[in-house]
Amino acid sequence: MIECIEITKKYVSGDTETVALAGVSFSINEDEFVAIIGPSGSGKSTLMHILGALDIPTSGQFLLEGQDVADLDDDELADLRNRKIGFVFQSFNLLPRANVIRNVTLPLLYSKVPPGRREELAREALVKTGLGEDSFNKRSNQLSGGQQQRVAIARALVTNPSLILADEPTGNLDSKTEKVVMQTFQQMHSEGRTIVLITHEAEIAAYAQRVITMRDGRLVDDRLNGDAGKTGKPSQDTVATAEAEKEMSA
Ligand SMILES: Nc1ncnc2c1ncn2[C@@H]1O[C@H](COP(=O)(O)OP(=O)(O)OP(=O)(O)O)[C@@H](O)[C@H]1O
Ligand SMILES: [Mg+2]
Repeated sequence: MIECIEITKKYVSGDTETVALAGVSFSINEDEFVAIIGPSGSGKSTLMHILGALDIPTSGQFLLEGQDVADLDDDELADLRNRKIGFVFQSFNLLPRANVIRNVTLPLLYSKVPPGRREELAREALVKTGLGEDSFNKRSNQLSGGQQQRVAIARALVTNPSLILADEPTGNLDSKTEKVVMQTFQQMHSEGRTIVLITHEAEIAAYAQRVITMRDGRLVDDRLNGDAGKTGKPSQDTVATAEAEKEMSA
């Protein structure tokens, strides 16, 4: 589904150049559940933006279902993102003054879903994230960080995308809600969707079938999780490995 070939990304501001990605190659098959971990600044979000066709690499190739995204024009890109990809941003990107339902139905504006059905789909997606119904008509700037995070997840789910990209989707959640949200991701995975999730937390990475580790803009480790994905429980191996990683990078 995804193929990255020697991807680099450089940011230039004034006379400083930041190499956010320094040559990254990997592929992700349909139906995989992949976690990306690594220290702050290692290039995780930059990579995710490229996987979501929100940004283009400085060099290298990014193929989505065999198609080089660089060959598409803006309309084709927007169409691809709308049809295939659900994106949960690290910084939510909600409309602050619009209510919850409106935020979640937003991606459906560009879809073929009839207007009468949109609110229903939004409610279904919100229920999956465990957000209480009493919040559905609040403005998003009246919600807590954890509640906003769940609205952002529901917004990514509502179009029923085949690829879900999530940047720290549990970063603001308490451990109980974290579990609910991770079960939602597992459910989406078992329905045949591809999931790529960035996290700082070993316990979250352990839900994935495969864990990619980034450091200094490079992919430094890529391994399968022994028992995850089958049991629906976190892999204890990954918890241990990721804990060790954290100690090393601290
Ligand atoms: N728009 C930008 N302009 C300039 N530099 C940027 C930009 N976005 C990211 N960077 C730099 O690129 C590097 C990688 O950033 P990125 O956001 O991908 O890291 P990250 O792994 O997601 O970190 P975190 O865990 O803190 O979210 C960092 O050094 C960052 O400062
Ligand atoms: Mg980031």
